[in-house]
Amino acid sequence: MTTSLLALITGANKGIGFEAARQLGAQGIEILIGARDSQRGQEAVAKLKDEGVSAHAVIIDVSNAASIKAAAATITRDFGRLDILINNAGIGLDRLLPSEVDIAHLREVLETNFFGALITAQTFLPLLRKAAAGRIVNVSSMLGSLFHLSDPQWVGHQTLCTSYSISKTALNGFTALLSAELVGTTVKVNSVEPGYTATDMTKGNGLQTVEQAAKAIVKYATIDADGPSGGYFDIHGRIAW
Ligand SMILES: NC(=O)c1ccc[n+]([C@@H]2O[C@H](COP(=O)([O-])OP(=O)(O)OC[C@H]3O[C@@H](n4cnc5c(N)ncnc54)[C@H](OP(=O)(O)O)[C@@H]3O)[C@@H](O)[C@H]2O)c1
Repeated sequence: MTTSLLALITGANKGIGFEAARQLGAQGIEILIGARDSQRGQEAVAKLKDEGVSAHAVIIDVSNAASIKAAAATITRDFGRLDILINNAGIGLDRLLPSEVDIAHLREVLETNFFGALITAQTFLPLLRKAAAGRIVNVSSMLGSLFHLSDPQWVGHQTLCTSYSISKTALNGFTALLSAELVGTTVKVNSVEPGYTATDMTKGNGLQTVEQAAKAIVKYATIDADGPSGGYFDIHGRIAW
C-alpha cells in the first residue's frame, strides 16, 4: 500500500492558500486545510472534496502558539506524518509610512507573518524530518526584498507597506537560516513570491489570478531531491533577496 503525501497549508480557507491546496490536491496529495475559523475551514474542505480531493480541516491560528501546538498534536495523533508545510497565512498589506507606523500594527503583522510562520515551522519540523522529502514553503512577497525596496526605479518603491515588508524580510531571513541548519537533511525550505494577485488582501486588485499565483508555491512544495533549498523564487526563477 502506498501512502499519499500529506500537506498542511496555513490560511488555506481562501485566496492563494486555498488555490495552492486545490492544485496540490489535484496531484493526489492529501490536504490539511489550515484555518483559524472552524466553519471557514470546513467550507473549504467541502469545496475540495467536491473536486475529488482528499482534504481535512485543521484549526490553526498562527498568531497563537498554543493553537499551533494543538494543531500539531492533532496531526501527529491522526496522521503521524507531514511531508509539506506551506506557511501561507498572512495579513497587513496596509500603506503605513516607516516614520509613522503604529507599533501595535507592526507587532500584530509580525506576530502572524513572521513569528507565526517561524513557530509553525519549528513545531512541525520533527514530523517533516521524518518524511522522505520534507518541504517547507514560506509564502513571502517582493515587498520583502531589500534589493527591490532599496531601488528607486522599482515599480513598488513607494508602496511603503512598512509592517508587511518588514515581516516578509524577516521571514526571508528565517528561510535562509533554517535552510543552513537543514543542510545534510532531506528537508528543503524556500521563500516564494506568488506575485501581485487579486484576493481579499489586495481588495481585488492584482495583475494575476490565484490560479497563476499558486503555481510557484506548488512548484517549490513539490521540488525533487535535486531542487534548491534556502532560495527566494517567483514563477520565473530565483529573485534577489
Ligand atoms: N495577494 C497578493 O498580491 C500577494 C502577493 C504576495 C504575497 N502574498 C502572500 O500570499 C499569502 C496569501 O495571501 P492572499 O492574498 O491569499 O490573502 P487572503 O485572501 O487575505 O488570505 C489570507 C489567509 O490567511 C488567513 N489568516 C490570516 N491571519 C491568520 C492567522 N493568524 N492564522 C491563520 N490564518 C490566518 C486568512 O484567514 P481568514 O479567512 O480567517 O481571515 C486567509 O485564509 C499571504 O502570506 C500574503 O502575504 C499575497
